[in-house]
Amino acid sequence: MCGIVGCVGRGEETLSTLVHGLSKLEYRGYDSAGVALADGDLDVVKRAGELDDLRAALDGDSLSGRVGIGHTRWSTHGPPTDANAHPHRDCTERVAVVHNGIIENYEDLKADLLEAGHEFRSDTDTEVVPHLVEDRLAAGDDPEAAVRAAVSRLEGSYAIAVVVAGDDRVFAAREDSPLVLGLGDDAYYLASDVPAFREFTDRVVYLEDGEFAVISADEWRVTDDEGRRIDRDVDTVEWSPEETGKSGYDHFMLKEIHEQPRSLRQCLRERVSELAGSVSLDVDVDPDGVQFVACGTSYHAALCGVHLFQQAGIPAQAFLASEYATSPPPVDGDLVVGVTQSGETADTLSALREAKRRGAETLAVTNVVGSSVSRECDQTLYIRAGPEIGVAATKTFSSQVVALALLVLSLTGASRHDIAALRDLPGNVQQVLDESDAEEIARAYEGSDAYFFIGRGLQFPVSLEGALKFKEISYEHAEGFAAGELKHGPLALVTENTPVFALVTGDGEQARKTIGNVKEVEARGAPVVAVTDGKSDVHRYADHVLDIPASDQRTAAILANVQLQLVSYHAAALLGRSIDKPRNLAKSVTVE
Ligand code: F6R
Repeated sequence: MCGIVGCVGRGEETLSTLVHGLSKLEYRGYDSAGVALADGDLDVVKRAGELDDLRAALDGDSLSGRVGIGHTRWSTHGPPTDANAHPHRDCTERVAVVHNGIIENYEDLKADLLEAGHEFRSDTDTEVVPHLVEDRLAAGDDPEAAVRAAVSRLEGSYAIAVVVAGDDRVFAAREDSPLVLGLGDDAYYLASDVPAFREFTDRVVYLEDGEFAVISADEWRVTDDEGRRIDRDVDTVEWSPEETGKSGYDHFMLKEIHEQPRSLRQCLRERVSELAGSVSLDVDVDPDGVQFVACGTSYHAALCGVHLFQQAGIPAQAFLASEYATSPPPVDGDLVVGVTQSGETADTLSALREAKRRGAETLAVTNVVGSSVSRECDQTLYIRAGPEIGVAATKTFSSQVVALALLVLSLTGASRHDIAALRDLPGNVQQVLDESDAEEIARAYEGSDAYFFIGRGLQFPVSLEGALKFKEISYEHAEGFAAGELKHGPLALVTENTPVFALVTGDGEQARKTIGNVKEVEARGAPVVAVTDGKSDVHRYADHVLDIPASDQRTAAILANVQLQLVSYHAAALLGRSIDKPRNLAKSVTVE
């Protein structure tokens, strides 16, 4: 949710480095963008719209400068206009600021500043910051002291980067919003996320809350809020710069769907021993019960986790993170597990903090090393899916589910059958990818009134996930239901123009009952697309079939989901939607 970048030491290439960084952070927000260059005069160019609009504005502009910051925005205060785009400046146009997060006390600060004669040009909370810095500079502070003083007055969440005309440094501060430094051989970078500068370096320092950083051409420094130097470990990023490109696919989403065999292998690597018949993780927990907190797709993975834990005899519940604090359940002996791809989702972090306040032990299940969730939780289980750029979560969902399955097996012990099911999963996903008829199905049902998804057991959260993915990137009405719930209301929506995707795997009681529900919708004239492993006779009642390989029921949920990911992708592609950057959404949701 908003991406910020900064760089010093790239000489004439500073501007192109900033724009490159912003292109890698567009998944965090894409309704406006801007840059500021500042070692001599302060130059700012910013535009409403996507990064290409900024590029067009920069084209032919003779901007130069060796110290710079940039921003790609997802609006929280004020609509996406040129004026509301970052960077924001003070009245003297000496100070430029980019910000990710929300400054909660900005109205009070703004009232004071207005009274003192400052003039504001935007509706944003961020604009108070350059004016606060301006005041301190006017009072005689040097730039670093002025920025520190300004930051000390802010309440809320922020990752902030500041440049001051005539100064050759970038100042940065973080509180509840991610910020990472990149240490190149002859340049230093800062950004909301590593892809912004991964092409130039793999050495990074993740800032902690309350920390302040300074980068110049020959120095990087992290200090506490009193200015005392903090010795920080330098981490090495394990993934390559190529992983943040499209590798020939039309969209990141399609690339990431196709990466699942590899991302699943990475998730399983060195955790499952076929020889010993065991699963071992770097996590030491022994809970009486489990409470999951998560949002969106991660919540659907958490619902899968509930099934997996309950089937293994460990009580489990999943909560929408944004609702958790409204009536938090007792946590005695329970492990509270935050499932979050980005590790930065404000709702999930806040639910975990509530659980911690109540004395719970917490575990993060996340994709992003060094993310806020991994720092705040007692322990972390990484899903190792690699960078996911498409706003719609795909490969991270399957890796979250597998990571949760591994967690269960590490607690309860794994049978030969369990191990074989996990071993076969990447190959089975590959088979779905190679043989899927999803594009044909998307074409067959283009223009329908609505799209419904039904399933039971583990396939219920997959139905919810199928519908979320579909609506998110196609902008068409889609809903997922527990198959048995159809007759309790939603059946009223079903017509001959509302295809129903029925997830039917196995040949047991659940499959039999879901086939009963399929017959109910069929009787109302709705077209049925069965997603099935062929173990039941659901194909007899379906207009179309999307096949998945016969496998264990737990991994069948992931295979069915891959088919639905492909259907959503192709439906959105046919409609010409902005698949990687759907309207109004951002990948990392750092506001509650
Ligand atoms: C949907 C999607 C979102 C996220 C949700 C939580 O495709 O990506 O629903 O799953 O915003 O994000 P994380 O997992 O980063 O906490």
